[in-house]
Amino acid sequence: MSPPADQVPSGAKPSGGDSPSRFDPVRFFAGRKVLVTGGLGFIGSNVARRLVDLGARVQVVDAHIPDSGANPVNLADYADRLELFIGDLGDPATSAERVRGQEVIFNLAGNVSHIDSMQMPLMDLNANVRAQIVFLEACRYHAPDARVVYASTRQIYGRPTSLPVNEQHLLDPVDVNGVNKMAGEAYHTLYQHVYGLASISLRLTNVFGPRMRVKDARQTFLGLWLRRVVEDASFEVWGGEQLRDLTYIDDVVDAFLVAASLDVAPTQVYNLGGSPPISLFELAQRLVGIAGQGRYSVTSFPAERARIDIGDYFADDSRFRAASGWQPRVTLDQGLRQTIDFYRGILDAYL
Ligand SMILES: NC(=O)c1ccc[n+]([C@@H]2O[C@H](COP(=O)([O-])OP(=O)(O)OC[C@H]3O[C@@H](n4cnc5c(N)ncnc54)[C@H](O)[C@@H]3O)[C@@H](O)[C@H]2O)c1
Repeated sequence: MSPPADQVPSGAKPSGGDSPSRFDPVRFFAGRKVLVTGGLGFIGSNVARRLVDLGARVQVVDAHIPDSGANPVNLADYADRLELFIGDLGDPATSAERVRGQEVIFNLAGNVSHIDSMQMPLMDLNANVRAQIVFLEACRYHAPDARVVYASTRQIYGRPTSLPVNEQHLLDPVDVNGVNKMAGEAYHTLYQHVYGLASISLRLTNVFGPRMRVKDARQTFLGLWLRRVVEDASFEVWGGEQLRDLTYIDDVVDAFLVAASLDVAPTQVYNLGGSPPISLFELAQRLVGIAGQGRYSVTSFPAERARIDIGDYFADDSRFRAASGWQPRVTLDQGLRQTIDFYRGILDAYL
């Protein structure tokens, strides 16, 4: 699939030309056939909803994995504006059927829980490696011209040896999830190199916002913190000195959309950061301050978590910003406020 010539941001063009800010998502996506894998989950549902609003013809496939971020509520009010298929990408027939005829595919299916990946390494391998290979094979044979945007993760860097972390940083993951996501990303790049499948990977940092999993800390510690604050209860901050950058979901959706328009020739892999780094301790203070309720205590890391903690992390995403013109539009405080407001109305549906 080729984007309209005036829809390709200049940084992605070998010869330059248009301003990156000329990317017009309505023009790019209206009427396009788009698949979102993992679309019942946090990021996928937000991508799918935006695409529907832009006028795309949206299909969603999701295996509705228990203990993932899958939640039918995420798409319930959009049910008559998109097609939802419950199915596992690891099944070759399902993958083939779903990718056939698609022009753009946002591949957000995967396991995100680090701790689950340590307790069930083969579950993580199935979601983040095996299903990805089955999906890529399906694209190779049934959607060779589709544009694929894959959700990779900063977890593949492991403990940073220098900050901010750019794409040249050593890949040295500290947990099973990081190893498997590293493989998943590498397979996407491989299929680009060997078969010409136009895929781009975004290495996400902590993403937060409406429709994230807040039942527990499986998706991110911040999910559980948000739940506790909305319940006016207490949460634990482990350590507290660690630095993190966070990206609000609307900015992540923006990044995925523009990534679909980039030329894959210069590179297939980009970091995606967001807000300036903040310590977990300060983040907890801000959250409680903005909510005007909830409280926290600072404790030491549980041993099983300390072993797979990555310490400080924040991304250098200048390469993606230059190529795409993307920049975050929502400040950390605005994002936290919007997320708290969202869950105040609907928390029970996420517990
Ligand atoms: N949330 C973050 O902060 C974050 C950070 C870095 C990377 N990511 C990546 O982004 C992607 C989406 O994350 P999320 O936070 O939305 O997670 P999520 O758990 O909310 O959504 C993932 C969805 O994928 C589905 N799924 C899993 N395996 C599947 C399969 N084999 N076939 C079909 N569907 C399947 C699940 O049912 C779930 O609905 C993941 O690949 C994750 O690694 C997320």
